[in-house]
Amino acid sequence: MSAPTSHTPKWETVLSHLEIEVRDVLKPHDPLPSERDLMVTFGVSRMTIREALRNLVEAGAVYRVQGSGTFVAEPSRVSKSLALTSFTDDIRSRGMRPGATLVSCTTVPATPQVAGDLGLRVGVMVINLVRVRTADEASMCLERVWIPADLVAAQMPDPKEIESLYDVMAGANILPTSAEQTITADVFDDNEAALLHVPEKSPCLRVARIAYDTRGRAVERGHSAYRADRYDFRVTIRRPGSL
Ligand code: GLP
Repeated sequence: MSAPTSHTPKWETVLSHLEIEVRDVLKPHDPLPSERDLMVTFGVSRMTIREALRNLVEAGAVYRVQGSGTFVAEPSRVSKSLALTSFTDDIRSRGMRPGATLVSCTTVPATPQVAGDLGLRVGVMVINLVRVRTADEASMCLERVWIPADLVAAQMPDPKEIESLYDVMAGANILPTSAEQTITADVFDDNEAALLHVPEKSPCLRVARIAYDTRGRAVERGHSAYRADRYDFRVTIRRPGSL
């Protein structure tokens, strides 16, 4: 259990551990421990446990059965749309092995555009991580990410060793829980095509994401250019009013 930082609300620390338990340990419809057991495990009040569970229910990760407890929900069938997933989650959910090849990792002053997206003053230091992301060893996208340096600097491992950036951020108690995202059709520029080993002007899907944590802080600006011949966005849509 990574030590929470002093300013992280207790329910957030409980939430981030429960989310990992729900994602990596339990299976759909497994029961979560009782509120009393969770209070003992985390050494917090019932109110704190209930706040963490409420967030899990709202995120659709668990469901409550009156008088029986809280259970793990079916994973949403969408691969990338309503669920805020990491590249790692997304590629694994497609039955492929995620990977990354480091292109560059620099700590630079935020430009007006980056500062504007992250709600920072121009010039504040941000970490700019550029990687080729792969699925089953073949290139899938070129990912450029900017994150406020002070949020993760202490926990930043050797960039060549990073697999999931969101796992690194979780280690710093930074959990992206919502995001503004746009998807645009385009073609790769020559540099991108060379890095991804695809013909020049190959079609791509540009995904621009600003991710926020549970406290509403902008924690990540991501620009990912996906190969349109290998990637698609699948959406589960429901009629209004249906469950
Ligand atoms: C998605 C987003 C990126 C984000 C990445 C994190 O692909 N488009 O903005 O940085 O997920 O994925 P991971 O935790 O596997 O590095």
